[in-house]
Amino acid sequence: MLGAWSLLRALRFCSTAPCPRHRPFARLRVRDALGSQNASGERVKVQGWVRSVRSQKEVLFLHVNDGSSLESLQVVADSNFDNKELTFGSSVEVLGQLVQSPSKRQNVELKAEKIEVIGNCDAKAFPIKYKERHPLEYMRQYPHLRCRTNALGSILRVRSEATAAIHSFFKNSGFVHIHTPIITSNDCEGAGELFQVEPSSKIKLPEENFFNVPAFLTVSGQLHLEVMSGAFTQVFTFGPTFRAENSQSRRHLAEFYMVEAEISFVESLQDLMQIMEGLFKTTTMTVLSNCPEDVELCHKFIAPGYKIRTYAKKQLFNWGVDLQTEHEKYLVKHCGDIPVFVINYPLALKPFYMRDNEDGPQHTVAAVDLLVPGVGELFGGSLREERYHFLKQQLARSGLTEAYQWYLDLRQFGSVPHGGFGMGFERYLQCILGVENIKDVIPFPRFTHSCLL
Ligand code: 4AD
Repeated sequence: MLGAWSLLRALRFCSTAPCPRHRPFARLRVRDALGSQNASGERVKVQGWVRSVRSQKEVLFLHVNDGSSLESLQVVADSNFDNKELTFGSSVEVLGQLVQSPSKRQNVELKAEKIEVIGNCDAKAFPIKYKERHPLEYMRQYPHLRCRTNALGSILRVRSEATAAIHSFFKNSGFVHIHTPIITSNDCEGAGELFQVEPSSKIKLPEENFFNVPAFLTVSGQLHLEVMSGAFTQVFTFGPTFRAENSQSRRHLAEFYMVEAEISFVESLQDLMQIMEGLFKTTTMTVLSNCPEDVELCHKFIAPGYKIRTYAKKQLFNWGVDLQTEHEKYLVKHCGDIPVFVINYPLALKPFYMRDNEDGPQHTVAAVDLLVPGVGELFGGSLREERYHFLKQQLARSGLTEAYQWYLDLRQFGSVPHGGFGMGFERYLQCILGVENIKDVIPFPRFTHSCLL
């Protein structure tokens, strides 16, 4: 077996890159072409999809986009290049010289020497029409094509940028990334919104279940993160999460991405809230500075600014009633349309793992939600019940003692106060971009009665 160092050394000597002599045209992404400051006739190759074709008497103008930026690259060519196949939506490869543009609209343009249509596009049959602004709802019928529109292009670039920013935030804050399982035998939230996992064809097994026990798609990686926080102190996970909620609402999906963190030696909700706020602010600032045009296209963002509201003290609602979407909206509005932390919820409404506040007749747990304008609940978190006897009682009350013996073990072997939270990634994108429907911020939405592609 080669060691890692020998492998790297070997790779250095066997490159598949062709010799520079055979590459007269360097391939350039549209974003890099647009960003070149002193274009002076470099010969380059640009590949992408035609966003507009304008033919004048002697010149042909094309706009080519390869998804690397919202803006397309203007290609200027002799009108001889015009042909029937060069249509809106077709894919092309253009070889030419990158030069300063005489127009004020763009810095650079590509003077074409060769244009090759790689794939035709029948404009009549193509569901995306030139110069039309299609509603997001209309484009949802075409999950295989909608990424070629400006709106979805911007949203998905922001999504990619935000994903990287979230990983950086945790890495820079000293967290260890954990891959929590997608298939699990626990229902962390206890809400029964589980998708069960079994083979599609009947494999001959003496046992009833493939895994011997009923197995499900995860509703949350929290319990596995709690295991890991008992060794690494600060951990996070960021992956797909599944809920069999019978909801067509504009903020629920059956498959969504959740960012979850778990931190050992945390004793107050205040400490947790600081991390939640830091994650929200840092990610949003990174996105705003790395893709301002994309965010601008989506036309809205929420200015970070937080207030803390205590459910127990404010008494805005009847005690013991869970917060519904309408309540959340009211609270956020009442506080001046800013993100609002709500803390200390009734024990009876929350899952078994939350820490008992032991606060008399109201009996609350140390839970925290962050509600944001336009979306409602964005984060859900809590301190966890780290005390063996309290947890044992709580598990017994919920009839879970047998299934969660391993979880009780964690409270026997070096238990520490700890807490964590989960943030719905699609709701985060809705919040910073002002996108009304959650189905438009995920590449391939899955929800009740719909699993296209
Ligand atoms: O509040 P939830 O259910 O919290 C948990 O699952 C905890 N175990 C997380 C943790 O502490 N590690 O879900 C967390 C967030 C919600 O605040 C919401 O933003 C999002 O996940 N969410 C959904 N997003 C889209 N579609 C759904 N069906 C969602 N359900 C929850």
